[in-house]
Amino acid sequence: MFAADRVPDGLAHAALATATIDRGRIAALDTARAEAVPGVRLVLTRLGEDELRTAGFLMAGGYAFQSFQPLTSDRIAYRGQPVALVVADDPVAATHAAELVEARYEAEPHAVRIDDPGATVVLQQEAIPLPFLADVVVGDADAELAKAEVRVEAVYEHPSQNSAPMELIGAVVQWRGDTLVVHEGTQNAASIRHGLAHQLGIDAERVEVVSPYTGGGFGQKNSLQPHIGPLAIAARRLGRPVKLVLTRPQVFHQASFRPVSRHRISLGADASGRLLAAVHEADQQTSRHDLFPATFTEVTSRLYGVPAFRGRQRLVQTDVQTPGYMRAPFEHPGAWAMECAVDELAHAAGADPVELRLANDTTHDPVTGKPFSSRHVAECLQRGAELFGWAKRRPEPAQWIASDGSQVGWGVAIGAYPAASTPAVARAVAYPDGRVGVEVDGHEMGQGIRSAITLLVADLMGVPANRVTVGLGDTRVATQHLTAGSWGTSSALPAVHAAILKLRETLGGRRPTGAPVAVSASNGLPEPLQERARAGQVALAGPVWDDFVAYSFIAHFVEVRVAAGTRRIRVPRVVSVADCGRVASPVTAASQVRGGVVWGLGAALREGLEVDERYGGFVNATLEEYPVTVNADVARIDVEFIDRPDPLLNPVGVKGLGEVSMVGVAAAASNAIFHATGRRVRRLPITIADLL
Ligand code: MOS
Repeated sequence: MFAADRVPDGLAHAALATATIDRGRIAALDTARAEAVPGVRLVLTRLGEDELRTAGFLMAGGYAFQSFQPLTSDRIAYRGQPVALVVADDPVAATHAAELVEARYEAEPHAVRIDDPGATVVLQQEAIPLPFLADVVVGDADAELAKAEVRVEAVYEHPSQNSAPMELIGAVVQWRGDTLVVHEGTQNAASIRHGLAHQLGIDAERVEVVSPYTGGGFGQKNSLQPHIGPLAIAARRLGRPVKLVLTRPQVFHQASFRPVSRHRISLGADASGRLLAAVHEADQQTSRHDLFPATFTEVTSRLYGVPAFRGRQRLVQTDVQTPGYMRAPFEHPGAWAMECAVDELAHAAGADPVELRLANDTTHDPVTGKPFSSRHVAECLQRGAELFGWAKRRPEPAQWIASDGSQVGWGVAIGAYPAASTPAVARAVAYPDGRVGVEVDGHEMGQGIRSAITLLVADLMGVPANRVTVGLGDTRVATQHLTAGSWGTSSALPAVHAAILKLRETLGGRRPTGAPVAVSASNGLPEPLQERARAGQVALAGPVWDDFVAYSFIAHFVEVRVAAGTRRIRVPRVVSVADCGRVASPVTAASQVRGGVVWGLGAALREGLEVDERYGGFVNATLEEYPVTVNADVARIDVEFIDRPDPLLNPVGVKGLGEVSMVGVAAAASNAIFHATGRRVRRLPITIADLL
């Protein structure tokens, strides 16, 4: 049962009226016709700032995906922003009434593209002076580039995209006496709890957030959404539970999205293709009200052992809701650009793309000089090449025609993703009947964290998996720090591991008789981080640790076929080999990689938001017009793991997997299209039009 499936007694239904301009102010709002609709109970248009405070931006010490809180001023900051919340006895009346709210606006000029006049460019490290957001600079990359025998330089353009999770954003909000109970699909129950407490001026002890299953998050559900505060106020005024489910176009216009980014990459190598220097200059879109920080170069500086690197990251403010984290938010676009450039370098140097990558592998992190805790990139490439049959590849592009007349291309790319950890506390309970229960920080959003925890507990306790129960995604059972950044399983499992070891010790090999036996343990992150987590703040350790740097890695091999005449692009097969440390749950892990591959192919060939220059917002804000990859697009995907534990990172030996799965897929596909056609397309998605 997902959040909005709940139908408590007396449930009222909400709908939103939304702004039709991109920037300006509300001059007048007429709600008379909306209020006259039978069944309408409440039309909220303006809340006092003392009644509903801003929850602040998640990445600036706040709790929400953006600092801007609709319905608290006359300001319009983006098209689609809510201007009224209508609550009625049934959803039809609420939706109908919301359409009858009439607004008059004073519009101001707006900028929707990063090159539009009025878009403001800021240098990230000056605008947000935090060490982890500073430009990565190692050696003198520009001087080394000038000396290089082989050089490539190119600009790669990545569109904005929407996570478009199957479960729409929505909530059922209810007061139980003085306690506010929120059911919402989320990756961060703690931020909703503490954010609402802050917004409404109540004690966090009086907010409960329940989210045992989320129908896909992908970063879009990583914090408090702006509709929940107004819903809580509506529920209090009406004395009834209230439900709101955003429509799909509202999800596109009111939730975070992957911003536009542009990447200029310069690479220099010796004649054999050994990299001497790399420069990565990236521009990323953000909103007017928040600086959504970019960390593209954190990963692109570490894909290879490049001795000199210069990164530069700029943010471009436009009139949109604040963009955010969408699966492999920087790693996917950054690695797409870098791994296309590396392919261009291999072509220029006359080197095999796999051999060139192997020749540039490293055991040490080029940025800090520390060793990687584990890095099996070479094994991923070698095993992948073997499974794929890479040795049979014809090196020259556009030389390979299949019997049906289509052009065949094979491409390769690697990916990396930082292995960070977040605070997690697990409570383990042994029952007299042999059942074992675990309650821990973590959110299940389809990635299989429940399975991974269940398998570990069953293994350590020597009980069948069906005797294990797992509680998570619920502020009543644990803190529920943000589950994202591929740190969910790798943060929860060490806490569960510690709690189960303690439980075994306490039990001394016997089942409890009488009362259940319960113990708690944390995953051992320092107390100041645990304290931040308990306060609902983002608390992160890694990927740079005292003695090592920890990343997950992957290699992807993609075959494309480009039809003669129509130029339709198909992907008949993909081989992916991942290094995620110990594989905690083989079935869900392989499923994660397939999902990442499918999404990477979507990014390469399907997904891109089209902005509406006239009114702001997005033109293709439905699943009909924003095509995500579907089953008909997916053919054979073979997945293997270098299943070697990383004992430096944590006692269980797990690194992250979810997001690294996607990193490099779009590059491997782009490189395969170049190999098939001889045409280098440096803008995603690559469509028929690019190949005609
Ligand atoms: Mo993910 S984009 O870190 O939820």
